[in-house]
Order: sequence, then structure tokens, then C-alpha cells
Amino acid sequence: MSTVTLKSSREHRVTVPSLARRKLRGDKLTMLTAYDFTFAQIFDGAEIDLLLVGDSLGNVIQGQDTTLPVTLDDIVYHTRAVARGAQRALVIADMPFGSYQISPEDAVRNAIRCIKDGGAQAVKLEGGVHVAETIARIIAADIPVMGHVGLTPQSIHRMGGHRVQGRNEDGRQRVLADARAVEAAGAFALVIEGVPADLGREITQSVGIPTIGIGAGVDCDGQVLVMHDLLGLTNWSPSFAKQYANLGSLAAQAARSFAEEVGNAKFPDDEHSYR
Ligand code: KIV
Repeated sequence: MSTVTLKSSREHRVTVPSLARRKLRGDKLTMLTAYDFTFAQIFDGAEIDLLLVGDSLGNVIQGQDTTLPVTLDDIVYHTRAVARGAQRALVIADMPFGSYQISPEDAVRNAIRCIKDGGAQAVKLEGGVHVAETIARIIAADIPVMGHVGLTPQSIHRMGGHRVQGRNEDGRQRVLADARAVEAAGAFALVIEGVPADLGREITQSVGIPTIGIGAGVDCDGQVLVMHDLLGLTNWSPSFAKQYANLGSLAAQAARSFAEEVGNAKFPDDEHSYR
């Protein structure tokens, strides 16, 4: 039997405690959304630290106008696929609208489903001061929670649209209070979405947990993008989202070439036929 110990990728698994150490060292964190096995494997292989099964799947997978119709079953289904593709990354299930607002008991039950049936290692939920008790109750069940403050898409009707938050002094203090409440409740990390860059910096400096920004400036401890924005798979992206590839036009080109070759009876050729 060989005495060589193979270095398993599990030894390098991103964990909740390792994220806290990364903040202390000043290492930037990366998070992408993922909704299926294939992309989870690709992003995991690219050493993205955190894979979020976001309720943004309502928009980019289901074609809904908002994230509000997404169900817990939807999140659990996609989380299962992502968890199978992730060897290294920490997999986080996004708790959808309605799954944590009714009562802390209901929230704990639903968070347990994300872990037990979905295979996630943590859950994320939106809100600050008003969900602090719920966050603490989920953590008391030994489930790590990531918070999400600033522009919270599940509050679209209260906000009157997807509006940048914290632009005036009152709003700024509200977002800061939310961030502090989430940390005090015991969350291990915090998404900050849609706030001015200097507020993203102030929150990051005033909390001890890692912050992950999306439209919150460069000074957050890490950044997150929706994978469809990263890869150029949507017709429209928010202005803060950078497109790193244009897979949408490559896919359309591939589909057109396929249709042309089928039309000309060039596909399948000998190489792609059984004999
Ligand atoms: O649902 C999602 O994709 C998110 C990210 C934008 C943070 O919550």
C-alpha cells in the first residue's frame, strides 16, 4: 500500500471559521451564485470561496420579475445540485421570501431543510434589526447564517423598486444599524447590496465579520456577482455588475451553427455517426 498521502481537496474546504481568519488576514473573498451541478463544479474548480444558491434564481432561471415567488422547494432542489458539485466552496442556501418571516420556529424548520435536504453548509436571509432574533434562533440550531443588508430584493414593494439604499443620513444610519444587529445576532458574514461605496467601507470597518459586497464598493472584504451577469447570459445587467465573458453570444452562435449544419445535412457527419 502506498505511503503517499493524497492531498484531498476536502482539506482545503472553505469553512465558517476559515472565513473569519481570512478577514483578519485581509484576504479578499469571492462568492458567485450557482444553481446547478455543472456551474458549481466549474466555479469550485476556479477556487471561488462561496457558492450562493440565490433566490435570484427566480429571475435568471425561472424568468420571474421579482424573487418573491421563489419557494423553499425551489431553493432546496437547486442547492442539492450545487452541493454535489462543490468540493471546496462553502455552499449557502438563500432563504426565500416567506420562509423566515412568519416566526423564528418556522424559520429554524426551513433552515434545517436547507441543510438536511439541500446539503448546504449555511443559509442566508435578508434584513437587519427586524430579523436579528430569527438569525439568533437559527444559529442556536447550529446553522451558520449569512446576513444581507442595504438593497434587499425581497423588500422590493417597501423600497418602491430596486433602489440604492443609505444615500441620505437617515438611510445610512438604518443600514449601519441593520449591519450591527446582524453581527450581534451571530451571523458569520454579511452581504451588503446596493449602497454607496463609502457606506460599504464604513460597514466593513465597523463590523468584525466578513462583508461581501454587490454594488457596495471595493472596500468590502469580498465581492459577489450573479453568475448570469458575470458570464453575459442576460439581456440586462445592473450597472455595478461587470461582465467577464459573453457566453450568451457564444451560445447563440453555437445554436445557429447547429441549425445551419442540420439544415444542410452536414451534421451528423461520419465522425459523429455509429457504424
Ligand atoms: O439571490 C442572490 O443572488 C443574492 C445575491 C445577489 C447576493 O442574494
